[in-house]
Amino acid sequence: MGIHSPVFCKKLAGAYFTPRDVAETLVAWALRSSNDRLLDPSCGDGQFLSAHSKTVGIEQNPFSAQAAVAAAPWALVHEGDFFLWAAETPERFECAAGNPPFIRYQNFKGAVRERALQLCSRHGAAFSGLASSWAPFLVATAALLKLGGRMAFVVPAEIGHAPYAAPLLDYLVESFSTVHIVAVREKLFPALSEDCWLLYAEGYGGAAPHIELTVCDTFKPSREPPKPTVKIDLAEWRTVWSRRLRPYVLPTEVRSLYGLAANHPESQRFGSFASVGIGYVSGDNDFFHLRPSEAKRWKIPGAFLHTSLRNGRAMPDRQITLKTVEKWKQADDPVLLLRLKRDQDLPASVIKYLDSSAGMAARGGYKCRNRTPWYAVPDVQVPDYMLSYMAGRTVNLVRNSAGVTCTNSVHAVQVQDRALAAKFLPQWSTPFVRLSCELEGHALGGGMLKLEPREASRVLFPAQCIAENAAAEVLETGIRVLQKWRHYAD
Ligand SMILES: C[S@@+](CC[C@H](N)C(=O)[O-])C[C@H]1O[C@@H](n2cnc3c(N)ncnc32)[C@H](O)[C@@H]1O
Repeated sequence: MGIHSPVFCKKLAGAYFTPRDVAETLVAWALRSSNDRLLDPSCGDGQFLSAHSKTVGIEQNPFSAQAAVAAAPWALVHEGDFFLWAAETPERFECAAGNPPFIRYQNFKGAVRERALQLCSRHGAAFSGLASSWAPFLVATAALLKLGGRMAFVVPAEIGHAPYAAPLLDYLVESFSTVHIVAVREKLFPALSEDCWLLYAEGYGGAAPHIELTVCDTFKPSREPPKPTVKIDLAEWRTVWSRRLRPYVLPTEVRSLYGLAANHPESQRFGSFASVGIGYVSGDNDFFHLRPSEAKRWKIPGAFLHTSLRNGRAMPDRQITLKTVEKWKQADDPVLLLRLKRDQDLPASVIKYLDSSAGMAARGGYKCRNRTPWYAVPDVQVPDYMLSYMAGRTVNLVRNSAGVTCTNSVHAVQVQDRALAAKFLPQWSTPFVRLSCELEGHALGGGMLKLEPREASRVLFPAQCIAENAAAEVLETGIRVLQKWRHYAD
């Protein structure tokens, strides 16, 4: 694919242009007078610049910058990296509006990221290396406003849960007298898998007493943002909700119940009695996992094979037993991990398999190339439980009663405190814990729920008195609401 093909550029440069009505709505709000100068730090083809007569845009892609000049010939368009320009310009603006590029940390790298993070840290916002580009864009833009200035932006819905959104939100509430976020459930960009919300911040130089949030189903063009539906208490947001906004899309009744449990001394987080980690990374799943018929054909001795749960789809409902393993083997599923250790004498049959054409191909792969010996898969463990980390309706936790191991397509759970595990794990399928998985995890495009190990460790098991008295309908409502927000339920 050529570097200027639309797909290549769009994805890597975070270049998805904003629908006209959204751009006009944000610009109309940001302006208070026709004399106001408006900045768009990543102006693309000039959608925001063309909505006002006094505009300045920055755009690093020369083709888009040219399109912006054509769309708004009166605008001042600088071609180049916004962070470079922002660090040096003496200009200050009454307002800013736009749609910053959403480049994930893996691609947001090199000098641009270096400059972005340095600039933000000078303004008091400390992002880790895991921040996507849009968050530093907003900090660096805010710092170019005049006192009392305003900004209105399209933001990824990740602002509601990503850990790297926390330093941004902290910066915003410390820098603006009003911070208002509009959480829109339906997609603003129908072609994008990511959801987008809107940010309105006003009164640069002030400090916000709370975060205003409007929870709504659809975007409606208007001069004013829709009225806030929740005023978020900053202390509660920081402590109970670990600086995440997503819990606030829940009805108050559900959130209060969850907050009560979170603060109860007898409630427990999953991570307080078990560790959640990832399974092994083989480096070449097809080569390292043999079918029983293949193992037989290659005459690989059983001592060099360990039955493995390869992915979430193979997970039974509650428990992996010897019967489950038997079923896998009878179906001739590729469940036998070739488990070889360093400094181990290998029989001729294993050596023959390693030297087969599949083995020759496997050893050239990235993981295998970078370990010695290439065939010893590290971190093979026998967890007490396995946890699916990508879920549709419910997150599956299965007990490992057959001593199998697992790949990194599922999470490996090792129990640290058996008494607490025995007390709390039977609650796993209850509405409360299901709600907790929805709340602590996050939505992936396509309606799936993802639980990273860090998020799984936060899954909350309520104190018994709460578990017994919580109204199931309230909890089920909460589950449905969150599933609707991740586009799983209608
Ligand atoms: C999501 S698009 C938004 C464009 C336009 N504001 C709109 O909403 O229609 C983001 C734009 O940021 C540009 N961009 C990415 N990194 C940049 C950087 N470091 N400096 C300036 N522009 C950048 C991309 O080329 C892309 O055109």
